[in-house]
Amino acid sequence: MFHHVKDLQFNARVSRPDPRFANLLLEQFGGENGELAAAMQYFTQAFGAKVPHPDKYDMLMDIATEEFSHLEIVGATIQMLLKGVNGELKNAADSSEIMQVLNGKAAKEDIIHEAVFANPQFGIITGGGVTPRNSQGIPWCASYIHSNGDLTVDLRSNLASESRAKLVYEHLMKFTEDPYIHETLSFLMTREVTHYKMFEAALNSIQPNFPPGVLAADPRYLQNVYNLSDGTIRGPWNEGEIKGMGKEFNYVEDPIAQVQETEGQTKLPDDFSAEVKESEKLNKDMSKIKSAEVKNAEPKGVAQWSAYGAEKVQA
Ligand SMILES: [Fe+2]
Repeated sequence: MFHHVKDLQFNARVSRPDPRFANLLLEQFGGENGELAAAMQYFTQAFGAKVPHPDKYDMLMDIATEEFSHLEIVGATIQMLLKGVNGELKNAADSSEIMQVLNGKAAKEDIIHEAVFANPQFGIITGGGVTPRNSQGIPWCASYIHSNGDLTVDLRSNLASESRAKLVYEHLMKFTEDPYIHETLSFLMTREVTHYKMFEAALNSIQPNFPPGVLAADPRYLQNVYNLSDGTIRGPWNEGEIKGMGKEFNYVEDPIAQVQETEGQTKLPDDFSAEVKESEKLNKDMSKIKSAEVKNAEPKGVAQWSAYGAEKVQA
């Protein structure tokens, strides 16, 4: 259940109309890394998380709700930046405070031209309003969101999503001088950092959380790193310990020879039989644990999503 509060979470203000920046800011309204994508991603992920992890359902829904609040802030800012763009609005806005910062009729005409030049859709489709499209007019798309029904996978997706959203705000700040917009963008950017830390803490609270999913890595194929170009640079990603896996990277200098000699990894020089057996057992155990996690949490009988009047979330 949603309840709309008419005040924005942050006091979004703009000094003067700027349709060019309004168009750039659309990227955070209907773009791939924007607020709508973030809100829909966490909202979608939350449903699958509810039964096994009611605490994470709570967190995902709360952050989704905050992202909708950010979508509202971005939409309001775009709308303020487009003030005076629509033909009817133009006359109405002539006496408004924000339009008084523009000198004369010519400057107001310029705003219209600037808007249509920045984004023709402002002129001919949205009538000077916001639209769930990105800065190039491409409609928002569900494939922007990632939801895989495994909380450790989803939380890792969210770390990447928050990182990208933070970076887009950082880039956007370079394209406006308006101190009020800087304040708003700085707030929105910082909330992405907070969300990142929340998702990170949530991921760490699930143990074990690696590898993602249920099945363990096959010990026969884990440690090899193939030399696939001339002059491959060595570093902690291809030499030394594989952190947390109890193994070392094995650098395969001649991958073509390795493929031939092992007949495509089917005749490996080392005997992995004990390790394979162990990982098969681990897979069976983990499958049981993961499936029981969901099954045991499912209430018996009629399915009911909410417990009215009772304690809402159990840790
Ligand atoms: Fe966020």
